[in-house]
Amino acid sequence: MNEVPLFSSFKIKSKSFRNRIVLSPMCQYKAKDGVISDWHFQHYSRFAFSGLGAAFVEATGVSPDGRIGHGCTGIWSDSHVEGLSKVAKIFNEYNCLSGIQLAHAGRKASYLRPWDGASPITENDKVEPAWQTIGPSAIPINNSSPVPKEMTVEDINKVREDFKKAAQRADKAGFDIIEIHGAHGYLLHSFFSPLSNQRNDLYGGNFENRIRFAMEIIADIKSVWPDNKPLFYRLSSIDAPGQGANLEDNIMLAKSLKSVGVDVIDCSSGGITGSPVLTKSKIIPGFQVPYSEKIKKDAEISSMAVGAIISADQANEIISNKRADLVAMGRELLADTQWVYKAATYFNLENAKDYLPDSYSFYLSRRDEYLDRAAKPA
Ligand SMILES: Cc1cc2nc3c(=O)[nH]c(=O)nc-3n(C[C@H](O)[C@H](O)[C@H](O)COP(=O)(O)O)c2cc1C
Repeated sequence: MNEVPLFSSFKIKSKSFRNRIVLSPMCQYKAKDGVISDWHFQHYSRFAFSGLGAAFVEATGVSPDGRIGHGCTGIWSDSHVEGLSKVAKIFNEYNCLSGIQLAHAGRKASYLRPWDGASPITENDKVEPAWQTIGPSAIPINNSSPVPKEMTVEDINKVREDFKKAAQRADKAGFDIIEIHGAHGYLLHSFFSPLSNQRNDLYGGNFENRIRFAMEIIADIKSVWPDNKPLFYRLSSIDAPGQGANLEDNIMLAKSLKSVGVDVIDCSSGGITGSPVLTKSKIIPGFQVPYSEKIKKDAEISSMAVGAIISADQANEIISNKRADLVAMGRELLADTQWVYKAATYFNLENAKDYLPDSYSFYLSRRDEYLDRAAKPA
């Protein structure tokens, strides 16, 4: 029996997380036509060996126009399944549940990679040509971004079908968990937020109408996604201080998502007015944890906290005090892929070396002795 809550197991449906630590989805912008590359195998292998409870593959486009940019991974064709299934297998081989985030970037599509400027693609850029973006209303993110096409009901139905087929392919590829990307200003979030959705049909206006698209997509996914596999939903807990959808709106959204079978709410924030981090002027450790805590408590649903979760004590406090059921980490794991092993060592867990692959743990089991000797010279 493990007494450190961060290292306790957690079960959803038929899937057991060996601990509460999860790799957050992180775009790599290294795919071609949505097909993952050698980079992805190398990158995701590093996390498969990391002792995590689960790891998510980055935002993966359900259609070519649903990619943020030309380097995004995709799942709109059967030809994407083979590469993705290798990644799912790598995770599973090392006792790490495999997740994939299904996404449509909506009006935030057709962008250059962050390190190329993160601005809308223009004809001067030597990448794929820019493509038409779509959204609930013809409202751009800001004055320098393209005006999205207001989606017709046919367009909405097409995206629903794309999510459904993507879920079928995710299952075929062997993933244990799907996360629907409903945050950061991308398509589903843009339907939910009154800042970007000014429709006056069944998909705009009141709360029920603004969540209709997401609820339909969940029903479509659930019709093909096995009942024993978990479904996560990432939402933006607040749009921006004093603007758009607030935390209470998102608690209502979480309750609705729960009622249609979403298992875990992944509590991020922001993005509808630009970069996801603009909800706060400064990122401080655990800045989004209060959202997870409140959504978990008020919507009575499992939650995942994310955002500047840095230290082992901080992560353990979140789980111990039931402020979340899982903690997702991004940049700290990029910085240190052995974060889990180090945290297990820090908590003096007898099985700390189980969080390493065999070929490492055998040798590291002899390391303690010489580290001790080095610390106490004869
Ligand atoms: C390189 C990078 C790529 C990201 N890509 C995604 C993504 O594909 N989907 C998503 O929902 N969030 C994405 N995010 C946000 C992270 O999942 C996470 O929510 C955010 O970085 C905060 O967690 P952290 O402070 O532990 O990094 C990305 C963040 C980074 C740093």
